[in-house]
Amino acid sequence: HPQNFQEEDRSLLRRDDCRAKGGTPGFKVAILGAAGGIGQPLALLMKMNPLVSALHLYDVVNSPGVTADISHMDTAAVVHGFLGQSQLESALTGMDLVIIPAGVPRKPGMTRDDLFKINAGIVKTLCEGIAKFCPNAIVNLISNPVNSTVPIAAEVFKKAGTYDPKRLLGVTMLDVVRANTFVAEVLGIDPRDVDVPVVGGHAGVTILPLLSQVKPPSSFSREEIDYLTNRIQDGGTEVVQAKAGTGSATLSMAYAAVKFADACLRGLRGDAGVVECAFVASQVTELPFFATKVRLGRTGAEEIYQLGPLNEYERSGLEKAKKELAESIQKGISFIRK
Ligand code: NAI
Repeated sequence: HPQNFQEEDRSLLRRDDCRAKGGTPGFKVAILGAAGGIGQPLALLMKMNPLVSALHLYDVVNSPGVTADISHMDTAAVVHGFLGQSQLESALTGMDLVIIPAGVPRKPGMTRDDLFKINAGIVKTLCEGIAKFCPNAIVNLISNPVNSTVPIAAEVFKKAGTYDPKRLLGVTMLDVVRANTFVAEVLGIDPRDVDVPVVGGHAGVTILPLLSQVKPPSSFSREEIDYLTNRIQDGGTEVVQAKAGTGSATLSMAYAAVKFADACLRGLRGDAGVVECAFVASQVTELPFFATKVRLGRTGAEEIYQLGPLNEYERSGLEKAKKELAESIQKGISFIRK
């Protein structure tokens, strides 16, 4: 693909021209880990997003093939591929949004924390690149354990002097997508009409669905609350077990990642009232990071919403979540500071 750079740059210029004439705004988006199980369907869906004018696909293996394939789709976004660390600079320069699904996934019997050893280093390297080459981009971090990789990214950006907490978002959207699906099943309604706030973090007991705040307003029996809470918290493990050693959620994750990235791009465009859950720097609890609803705007997560009224069940879940979260956050911070 590099030999096509000039030609594609010209077509990008033409498109910028069209934008100047009042056409649709186009954003430049990079996917790091684009050849992976999540990366490929994520690239496919982002190529279909009308808000994207340029799509950069970066990986340490197989990105040329994925790029050639995706680039034949007759949608507006212009696709470039980048392979290996030496091309990270070109992959990142000029990006408005960087989505990171790079790293190893779980196998049966593993927790997300078991991935820390490998993924912490990958996230560190990629975030050092972001700090250097596109320090103003919004970052959507998918690589697990999200509860630790977001603090790692924050520390890397602080070291580089580029940290803006509004621009760093851990992606917990899959927990919301699952919660909406499972709650809709129980209520017997269309999942598109359901909105379940999921707060806390993205692992086991740190995933805290607030069933008392479900929209449309609904009441659940104690059995339903237990069933739904457990299934939402273990949704990832359900997929890991069904895939029996071949990986974790990739397709539903790509869907969730695109739903979240699209919300970030609508925020960047200046749309009003774009609100989604994400794991961000937060003062909602005593912990430095926490997932809640946030309002996405031109500068990232511009407003962080409070938890709202919790019932007894949720208050006790919150205490458990905070205990585990505190350790995972500290583990991420220590990885960089040590
Ligand atoms: P995968 O193994 O299929 O793909 C990962 C890709 O990352 C591979 O193509 C690999 O070459 C690439 N990669 C490795 N090191 C890299 C580096 N230094 N720079 C760029 N790319 C690099 O894994 P999959 O299934 O796509 O999962 C990716 C990550 O997403 C895992 O950490 C997984 O735990 C996490 N995940 C997060 C979810 C969430 O809700 N936040 C849900 C599901 C998975």
